[in-house]
Amino acid sequence: MKRIFILTGAGISAESGVPTFRDAGGLWEGHDVMEVASPEGFRRSPGLVHRFYNQRRADIQLRIPNAAHQAIAELQARYPEQVTLVTQNVDDLHERGGSPSVIHMHGELLRVRCSYCSYRCGWSDALSAETICPACRRSSGMRPDIVWFGEMPFFVEVIEEKLQQADAFVAIGTSGLVYPAAGLVSIAKSLGIRTIELNLQKTEASHLFDEVIPGPASQTVPRWCRSCGIATEETP
Ligand code: APR
Repeated sequence: MKRIFILTGAGISAESGVPTFRDAGGLWEGHDVMEVASPEGFRRSPGLVHRFYNQRRADIQLRIPNAAHQAIAELQARYPEQVTLVTQNVDDLHERGGSPSVIHMHGELLRVRCSYCSYRCGWSDALSAETICPACRRSSGMRPDIVWFGEMPFFVEVIEEKLQQADAFVAIGTSGLVYPAAGLVSIAKSLGIRTIELNLQKTEASHLFDEVIPGPASQTVPRWCRSCGIATEETP
């Protein structure tokens, strides 16, 4: 195995204290996704959406990466050209865990953008309708740089290109329910590459994987990274 494509979901950050979406007590249990995570919801109640993301943006800065984030970062550092990391997560725990390259297909909690001029920048404070865009100086347009339901995920072409080049597709801590991320395992299978799922428990997609490794990510991911048998590009 020379090129590994890793897709992570909320489960990899669960042991860092970041709530997942669909587990018991998950984020979507307490909120209507169309109210807090859709363009329509933002248009209807910008204050509610800002409060929802301001809370998550403040909370994530109190969380720390766990052994799963660190193990992936070490694998990337050791085989920089051979490990692609794509995450559905909007937290920065992969980066703070040491990952040199993270493809955030659903955007980032600590980045914002202007709905008027598309200016983007890092942002760790609260946002409101009064926040003025640093570029175009207009207010009421600043929003989290996050992909909401009904919007196109980021980096779709790069993601498909990297998957085409991979020998193995590894899904970690994702329920495999939200497309296009949920469709990647089927593309991997159509390419004839090995598919591996690491999750606390069986998912609705488990039957699609060649190998399913149950358990908490902070235990299963470091063990898998140590034993994954990735060969360097030079090794025949
Ligand atoms: N270790 C490994 N897996 C875990 C752990 C853990 N400690 N805790 C939970 N999980 C698994 C759950 O079993 C579940 O399969 O993580 C998964 C979390 O699933 P979701 O909450 O649906 O999160 P995710 O798959 O990332 O959601 C995908 O949906 O709402 C959108 O944009 C949002 O990016 C998100 C997307």
